[in-house]
Amino acid sequence: MDRDGYIGVMALYCLLFMALIGTNHATVVNVKTKGAKGDGVTDDGPVITRAWKEACAGASPSSLVIPPGIYLAVAIELSGPCKGPIKVIAKGATIKAPPKLGMFKKDGWITIIANTDGIHTMRLNGLNITNATIKTGDDCISFGDGSKNVYVQKSTCGPGHGFGIGSLGKYPNEEPVKGIYFRNCTLTGTANGVRIKTWAAMHPGAASDIHFEDIIMNNLNLRPSDLARHYSIHTSNYVFDSNNFGPSKVQLSNLTFRKIRGTSATQVAVKLSCSQGLPCDNVEVANINLKFKGGTATSKCSNAITKVVGPNVPDICPA
Ligand SMILES: *[C@@H]1O[C@H](CO)[C@@H](O)[C@H](O)[C@H]1NC(C)=O
Ligand SMILES: *[C@@H]1O[C@H](CO)[C@@H](O)[C@H](O)[C@H]1NC(C)=O
Ligand SMILES: *[C@@H]1O[C@H](CO)[C@@H](O)[C@H](O)[C@H]1NC(C)=O
Ligand SMILES: *[C@@H]1O[C@H](CO)[C@@H](O)[C@H](O)[C@H]1NC(C)=O
Repeated sequence: MDRDGYIGVMALYCLLFMALIGTNHATVVNVKTKGAKGDGVTDDGPVITRAWKEACAGASPSSLVIPPGIYLAVAIELSGPCKGPIKVIAKGATIKAPPKLGMFKKDGWITIIANTDGIHTMRLNGLNITNATIKTGDDCISFGDGSKNVYVQKSTCGPGHGFGIGSLGKYPNEEPVKGIYFRNCTLTGTANGVRIKTWAAMHPGAASDIHFEDIIMNNLNLRPSDLARHYSIHTSNYVFDSNNFGPSKVQLSNLTFRKIRGTSATQVAVKLSCSQGLPCDNVEVANINLKFKGGTATSKCSNAITKVVGPNVPDICPA
C-alpha cells in the first residue's frame, strides 16, 4: 500500500479484469454467493475481502471466484498467511474504487484522494495475476511484507502509481518478501514505473528475488521510474519521528530489472537509491531503453552492488 500520499492523485476509480485459470481446487469461494452485489453501487469491498479470507483459510489449493459484474470496492486486500497457493478467477469482473473524501493538505489545497491500491497483498505465499487491467489512484499492484512466490504477467497499469514492492520497514516484525515476478506488463500514464519502497530509519526487513522483465512504460507522468528506492525524506503523510531519519534497515537483494523500455517523464529515468547501512546486494540491470522527451535520460545509483548488462539507454551508473 502506498502510504506516501501523493498530492494530486486524481484517478478515483479502479477497474480490474483478472483472468486466471483454476483447476481442481479444494476450496472455491464465489464472492456472489458470499453476498457481493456486483451492481456497481454497493460497496462490495468488505465482502470480497472476507471471501478472500475464507479462501485463504480453506483447504489448499483454493480459489476466489469473482463472476462478471461491476464491483464497487474501496480496496481489496489479499492478506495471508494462507493454507496454500490461491488463484483469483475474475474473468469479466470490473472492480471499481469510488472517490474517498480527501484531507486538508499543508499547502492549502483541498484534494480528493484515493489512496487505494488496486491489489495489495501481505503475508501471502503463491498468487498468479494474469491479464489484469488496473486503473487506480494508488499502486496498481503492490506487495507488502511476507508476500512470496507471486507472478504478475501480461497486466497493465494506468492511471496509477505503478507496480512495486512495499512499503517495507514501517512496522516491527515484518516478514521478508521473496520471489516476486513482474513479466510482460505495461504501464501507461502512471506516476511511477516499477519500484521498491522502504522506509528510512525504521524497522528491519528484507526483500529478495524481485524481478521486473519485459516491461513497457508509456508516458509516465510526475515521477521517473524509480527502480529501487529508499525513502530518505518522508512525504506528506508519513507519520514518524522526524528526528529519526537514517538509512533504511530493509535489505534488498537479488533484484533484476530487464528489458524495461519506453518513456520517462523526468530526466532521471533510472534511480537505484539504496540504504547506506544495507546496500542493495546483487542488482542486475539489463537492456533498459528509457527515453526522456526533454533531453537525454540519465541514471543515478547509490549504495547498490550492480551488474549492468548492455546496451542500456541511459547508461546505468556510469563511473
Ligand atoms: C490472457 O490473455 C491472452 C490473450 O487474450 C490469452 O491467450 C490467455 O489465455 C489469457 N491468460 C489467462 C490466464 O487467462
Ligand atoms: C504461477 O505461475 C508460475 C509460472 O508462471 C507457476 O510456476 C506457479 O505454480 C503458479 N502459481 C500458482 C499459485 O498458480
Ligand atoms: C514476454 O512475452 C513474450 C511473448 O509471449 C515471451 O517470449 C517472453 O518470454 C515473455 N517474457 C517473460 C519475462 O516471460
Ligand atoms: C541471492 O542469490 C544468491 C545466488 O543465487 C543466493 O545464494 C542468496 O541466498 C540469495 N539471497 C537471498 C537473500 O535470497
